[in-house]
Amino acid sequence: MSKSFDVVVIGAGPGGYIASIRAAQLGFSVACVEGWKNPKGEMALGGTCLNVGCIPSKALLESSENVEKIEHKFGDHGISISGLKVDLNKMQGRKETIVSKMTKGIEFLFRKNKITWLKGFGSFVSGGENYTIEVKNDESKERVTAKHVIIATGSKARHLPGIAVDNISICDNEGALAFASVPKRLGVIGAGVIGLELGSVWRRLGAEVTVLEAMPTFLAAVDESVQKEAWKVFTKEQGLNIKLGVTIDKVATKKTGVSIEYTDDKGLVQKLDCDKLIVSVGREPNTDGLGASNVGLKMTDRGLIEVDDHCATNLPNVYAIGDVVRGPMLAHKAEDEGVAVAERIAGQQPHIDFNTIPWIIYTSPEVAWVGKTEQQLRAEGVEVKVGQFPFAANGRALGQGEGGGFVKVIADARTDRILGGHIIHAHASELIQELVTAMEFRAAAEDIARIVHGHPTLSEAVREAALAVDKRTLNM
Ligand code: FAD
Ligand code: NAI
Repeated sequence: MSKSFDVVVIGAGPGGYIASIRAAQLGFSVACVEGWKNPKGEMALGGTCLNVGCIPSKALLESSENVEKIEHKFGDHGISISGLKVDLNKMQGRKETIVSKMTKGIEFLFRKNKITWLKGFGSFVSGGENYTIEVKNDESKERVTAKHVIIATGSKARHLPGIAVDNISICDNEGALAFASVPKRLGVIGAGVIGLELGSVWRRLGAEVTVLEAMPTFLAAVDESVQKEAWKVFTKEQGLNIKLGVTIDKVATKKTGVSIEYTDDKGLVQKLDCDKLIVSVGREPNTDGLGASNVGLKMTDRGLIEVDDHCATNLPNVYAIGDVVRGPMLAHKAEDEGVAVAERIAGQQPHIDFNTIPWIIYTSPEVAWVGKTEQQLRAEGVEVKVGQFPFAANGRALGQGEGGGFVKVIADARTDRILGGHIIHAHASELIQELVTAMEFRAAAEDIARIVHGHPTLSEAVREAALAVDKRTLNM
């Protein structure tokens, strides 16, 4: 007799583990299938985000930013340190400890919520009133049945044809987070989120970084004023060598590193020799081995699982969430879809507002935004009012030595409703949430302008930008 559950979740990344917890809170019997193995060969929960994504990358960003601060920022405070030493082994060890703490934390949460962890990879065997799912690992296989299935199998790095990723010389995110030494020359293909974050980590630790980007524009999804500021800081001030509008022609692994031949934006053939190469050109959905065809699960032409606005697939009682479906590939989007689907299975009517999902790039300064850019809104014919306030006029930012960047609030010219928020600053990731909350509550710029903000705080810059929408900043 196979075990049977109300809900079986396939995948324990932020989408799947959160969906499992919410379903268990709602009183369902829940099992979560996950077969991820960490470098020690142990099975681990947490998916891309906790094992090789958000969490380890932010640990290394923090460590490397501390090095950058000591080398370039502490002098202003009158602090000088001689004989600075970086122990990369220890830095990587710290990162691994954080990852382990977090992934073990999910095991604790599973026990607390009485969620069964089915160790292995899951595939659909058959459908009908209940679904049969086979769970297979290196040692064993078993079949379970489920009334409801939530697919949360996430994504994997997209690789380029002819460029074999070995995660030694040519790396995707997994290898790029685990370098044992700092490469002298680092090449990066793709100036997207991973390219900029991990390019920054290794540049701060001493690598000479060249980023090759196919698009002629830098950070195309970002508001143009933020794009310009980010370009200036990352290239001119920090020395990231970003080349736009390139075509990669040939990549060859040599005894001593990697050689890249590319055509630049003027049509000239160029050569880049580096010790390591990161390929960060986007991610693709994980649907291999899911047995989708055994139950007739529908995919889009981009290989994503097709879902409606409520994450329902074409199969009754089967949902899909996170990176494996449409929408931004972000951990918080996956998590919120997980909560919403569990609640929908319980008969509730949850709703996710995709217009208020924040984006954050954890470079230094950080780039964060919510809603639309000024260019998008103007192209749509929306009449807008724009308020901008620089951190150079914010006392807390100056005290922190972080007076660069600004907050930009975009509001509907007629109703004053906030339609977009854009921040470039060292702490933009924390500040953007005020604008997310405001947009979720359909606030007007004046609503933020009339809220008392603590002093001295960085958040006063958000308020001042809201005041600037009505041309009445107080401190500028
Ligand atoms: P995943 O986290 O990919 O998890 C899917 C899980 O499903 C995996 O554990 C996998 O083993 C498992 N699985 C797959 N197939 C099966 C199967 N057949 N049976 C059982 N299990 C299966 N997002 C942010 O919001 N903020 C960040 O700062 C951020 N930083 C990132 C940094 C990097 C370097 C990378 C690569 C990504 C980053 N992301 C970030 C993106 C974020 O990691 C993803 O959006 C998020 O992990 C998606 O969650 P998910 O649950 O959909 O899938
Ligand atoms: P990305 O989509 O952010 O950027 C990929 C870049 O590569 C783009 O600029 C694209 O134009 C470029 N590119 C594509 N093909 C190319 C080619 N052949 N030659 C040169 N350039 C090429 O993808 P990335 O950086 O791999 O990250 C994947 C996803 O992971 C992100 O989109 C995001 O969803 C998630 N992520 C989120 C983070 C965050 O929230 N802070 C951090 C890291 C990843």
